[in-house]
Amino acid sequence: MKNVLVTGGLGFIGSHTCVELLQRGYKVIAVDNLSNSEIQVKDRITKISRENIVFQQLDLVQKDEVKSFFEAHAIDSIIHFAASKAVGESVENPLHYYQNNLISLLNLLEASKAYSVNQFVFSSSCTVYGQPDKLPVTEDTPKKPAESPYGNTKQIGEEILEDFCRVNPTFKAISLRYFNPIGAHKSALIGELPLGVPNNLVPFITQTAAGIREKLNVFGGDYDTPDGTCIRDYIHVVDLALAHISALEYADRMEENYDFFNVGTGNGFSVLEVIKSFEKVSGVNLNYEIVDRRPGDIEKIYADTTKVNQKLGWKAKLGLDDMTHSAWEWQKTL
Ligand code: UFG
Repeated sequence: MKNVLVTGGLGFIGSHTCVELLQRGYKVIAVDNLSNSEIQVKDRITKISRENIVFQQLDLVQKDEVKSFFEAHAIDSIIHFAASKAVGESVENPLHYYQNNLISLLNLLEASKAYSVNQFVFSSSCTVYGQPDKLPVTEDTPKKPAESPYGNTKQIGEEILEDFCRVNPTFKAISLRYFNPIGAHKSALIGELPLGVPNNLVPFITQTAAGIREKLNVFGGDYDTPDGTCIRDYIHVVDLALAHISALEYADRMEENYDFFNVGTGNGFSVLEVIKSFEKVSGVNLNYEIVDRRPGDIEKIYADTTKVNQKLGWKAKLGLDDMTHSAWEWQKTL
């Protein structure tokens, strides 16, 4: 069975992916620099899966440490989550984002080449599309100039992988373009742990309902959408984790050596629809107010999932109520 290196393995999507891998018999070697995650997550992963992972605190920007790590561990495949991900912070501190997100990718690819690791799954984002001219957005949709340094690191990351694959025919890489991951594991033992005030909608909703925040600001009520609020394709983090396993399986059979997929449900929901779903599953009346638009927000985006459904054989199973319910169950444990 494969030894899978999961970078950012204690983070939100990484921890859920470790669980799903372990439950399918994969050996998991996780690394994380703990900049946006907690070490206790390691024991939570073991508690859910009843399997141990190998874990090392590692900063992937440190090239020599990455090399020593590959020297010490037999790795068959890599799922690379480790990255900084706050859009606003990336505008404030672009060099940190380019350094952290791109140098770590380069170091991993160099080590993969040196130690003959030939399967790589990359965390990309629907942010590569900007506001698409046509919905739902397919993988053939032209990329728009990135709206933030964070988004740019995802675009450049995809290009680096494609260029690397071109000259390394035995290396198979897959970029997964995530839409909006939310929710938590049904055990409520792992979930999203935002640092400070959350930027993203669902952690802000659950923290408001829990009394940590006074009120949710809904950014913009005058968009060209049925209820005036922005539309996104929210995907349950467990479904997203499973897409990575489908990608690893696909890497064994793919003919070309680089490919990329949208990972969403294919359904768009407005901010008000997410709030309604949350209120229904939690029984809590949320204190919210419609305020001005947030600069940089796109109006609406949701995925065409035909390619990922057909080629990876993966389809999201969990609906919006499962997402908001599990996010609330998790919030209540914090
Ligand atoms: N929103 C609010 N109030 C909040 C937070 C968010 O109304 O307090 C709204 C936003 O305006 C947007 C929707 O909720 O309409 C979703 O916002 P998120 O911040 O949760 O997610 P985004 O779609 O803005 O961002 C996500 C990822 C990014 C990625 C981006 C690409 O978090 O990593 O999609 O579009 F870059």
